[in-house]
Amino acid sequence: MKSFPYADRDALLAEASRLEVEIPYAAGAQVLLEPFVASGRRFANRCALPPMEGCDGEPCGSPGELTTRRYARFAAGGSALIWFEATAVRPDARSNPRQLCIGQETVGRFRQLVEETRCAARAPQGGPQEVLLILQLTHAGRWRRDAAGRPAPVIARHHPLLDEALGLPPGRALVTDEELDRLQDDFLMAAECAAAAGFDGVDVKACHGYLLSELLGAHARPDSRYGGSFENRTRFLCETIERIGARLPHLLLACRMNAWDGFPYPFGFGADRERPEEPDLAEAEELARRLGALGCGLLNVTLGHPRVLPHLGRPYGAALAGAAAPPEHPLAGVARLIGAGARVQRAVSYVPVVGTGYSWLRQHFPHVGAGVVEQGGAALVGAGRNAFACPDFPRRLARRGRLEEGELCIACSRCSQIMRDGGKAGCVVRDREVYLPELRAGRRRAKGARG
Ligand SMILES: Cc1cc2nc3c(=O)[nH]c(=O)nc-3n(C[C@H](O)[C@H](O)[C@H](O)COP(=O)(O)O)c2cc1C
Ligand code: SF4
Repeated sequence: MKSFPYADRDALLAEASRLEVEIPYAAGAQVLLEPFVASGRRFANRCALPPMEGCDGEPCGSPGELTTRRYARFAAGGSALIWFEATAVRPDARSNPRQLCIGQETVGRFRQLVEETRCAARAPQGGPQEVLLILQLTHAGRWRRDAAGRPAPVIARHHPLLDEALGLPPGRALVTDEELDRLQDDFLMAAECAAAAGFDGVDVKACHGYLLSELLGAHARPDSRYGGSFENRTRFLCETIERIGARLPHLLLACRMNAWDGFPYPFGFGADRERPEEPDLAEAEELARRLGALGCGLLNVTLGHPRVLPHLGRPYGAALAGAAAPPEHPLAGVARLIGAGARVQRAVSYVPVVGTGYSWLRQHFPHVGAGVVEQGGAALVGAGRNAFACPDFPRRLARRGRLEEGELCIACSRCSQIMRDGGKAGCVVRDREVYLPELRAGRRRAKGARG
């Protein structure tokens, strides 16, 4: 792993200028520590932890020991908002056998997790530290796996590249409109369980190529209420948000949405019809406006597809084993994520947007995040891999006004590698005792499987 060559602001901004991308940069990060009110809630500061799956649930979908440890660490760190990881709305909607799943059987354990998380948020100061807790609800769709961990894809549309990657024949049946209607009921039920468990809100996940994200880009889904026009492609998401809001008016409605999938038109959401390699963020802006009108009070904007186009959503230095190096400079990826988030934030200025994709920036992350907030490009700044590496970054920022390179994520992709190898994910570099053995065990399994 090469060392990080951008020791100071000037070095980073010189690289941005060479790449012809825009990177906001604030001298101090104080704005990230200031409270604000939006969507009827008080946010204790502008620091957020976006969903980070640990793949460490029990077979029934309940949080496991490491899940509880992770959220206690997150909460003790001082972020105003914790956006809990991808959680399936029913057991057969999971992407791996250890993915969390919320339902009648597991809601009690989720209640305990919420209580322990709130308790950890209060502990460091011995007084009440408000923290907003959002649960991400999902169906894994194309990336579904069965209880034994075998691929069991549910697809909303055909896609030449992804169908081939999964070995799906052209005649493979699509999930039907009737099945999707029933799935809306599952999202509603899961939201009810999340409310009963004590979460402040739920996210209807529509990103990263999972089922609802695939529906957003389902241009070619013949004779379906859920495919073709923008109205139809966004129907599932919008109706689900609307139904949850009607049933559970006190819940904060959230959506983590892809602004662009990264595939050429007509194979994804947000693609420019004239220039196949470019995004057209008009659809993302319109979707955000519709979600806002339906009562959605929190958005998180992301891009790409973690399995096929990881550089778009998770700019990184080192690739997964056997994968190609990123096709662009990671700073270009960070700039694109910032730009997409800002476009959506400006389209719906009354809905707070959480920006993500900053972890590659290391010590510059709070300054860039503060720059984005000061320019109105996001209301909150999310730390994804940095949540694994440095869950208490807000407290460190409050103490010192800055973060040091040596305490942050180095974008080495090892947490993603653990996930890909079927292990329990966390930071191998900064939480080494727990996660280095996981990495090693996973690598051994992968080598054994290859023979
Ligand atoms: C190990 C791992 C698990 C993740 N789990 C989720 C998840 O459950 N839901 C989700 O929407 N994104 C997930 N992400 C994506 C992150 O939330 C985030 O968008 C991405 O890492 C980029 O932000 P960063 O640069 O701060 O890491 C995950 C990423 C990693 C590396
Ligand atoms: S293992 Fe740690 S340092 Fe490496 S990418 Fe993941 S969070 Fe960052």
